[in-house]
Amino acid sequence: MDKILKSALLFMLAAIFMTGCNCNDNQTTTMTDNTKKDAMETIMTRTSIRSFTNRTVSADTVEMLLRAGMAAPTAVNKQPWHFVVIDDPAVMDSLGGNGRQSQMWKEATLAIAVCGDLNKAMEGPGQPYWIQDCSAATQNILLAAHALGLGAVWTGCYPIEERVANVSRVLNLPENLIPLCVIVMGYPNEQPAPKDKWKPENVSHNVFGK
Ligand SMILES: Cc1cc2nc3c(=O)[nH]c(=O)nc-3n(C[C@H](O)[C@H](O)[C@H](O)COP(=O)(O)O)c2cc1C
Repeated sequence: MDKILKSALLFMLAAIFMTGCNCNDNQTTTMTDNTKKDAMETIMTRTSIRSFTNRTVSADTVEMLLRAGMAAPTAVNKQPWHFVVIDDPAVMDSLGGNGRQSQMWKEATLAIAVCGDLNKAMEGPGQPYWIQDCSAATQNILLAAHALGLGAVWTGCYPIEERVANVSRVLNLPENLIPLCVIVMGYPNEQPAPKDKWKPENVSHNVFGK
C-alpha cells in the first residue's frame, strides 16, 4: 500500500512539475507577446489630457507612477532627480495661478514635479544630461499614467526662467533642484483622439536624405 501511495505521489508531483514547466513556457511566450502589444498600444494611444474628474488617485497608484519614473535610463545611472508629489489643492492652485490653464490645475487631483538634482548630476560637460534623464522619467510617468487609466499632461518649466522661478518658489525647492516640468494628472474628463504624428519624411536611412 505504501509503495502504491508513494508511486501515486511521485506520479502526481511529476505531472505537476511538467505542467508547471509547460505552463511557464506558454506564459513566457504569451506574456512577451502581450507585453509587446500592451506597450505599443499604450505608446500609440497616449495623448495629453487637460480636463479631469474629481476622483482622487490612490497612494498605491502614485507609487506605481513614481516607480515608473525611476525606472528610466540615466547617463552613468546617476538618477539625478527628485520628484515632488502634489495633491494639495492649495498648492495646485498656486502652481496654476491665473494663467490660461488655471482651470486645468483646479481640476487636477495629482501633479508630480520632476526636478533635476544638480548635487546628483554628472560633473563636467555631462552635467546637462540631467535634462534628458528627467525627460525620460517624465515620459515613463506619462505612459504609466495612461496605462493605469489616468490622464496627464507635461507642463514645461526648464528652461523658461519665469516658470522655473515660480515652481521653485511654490514648492520651496532648494537651489540644487531645478524643475524640468510638472506633470498634471487625474482621471480623464475628456477623450481627445491621439494625434497621428507619423511622417516618413522625418526619417533618413544610413545617410541624411536617403
Ligand atoms: C517640453 C514640453 C512642454 C510642454 N508644456 C506644456 C504646457 O505648458 N501646457 C500644456 O498644456 N501642454 C504642454 N505640453 C504638452 C504638449 O502641448 C503636447 O505634448 C503636444 O501638443 C502633443 O500632444 P500630445 O501630448 O497629445 O501627443 C508640453 C510638452 C512638452 C514635451
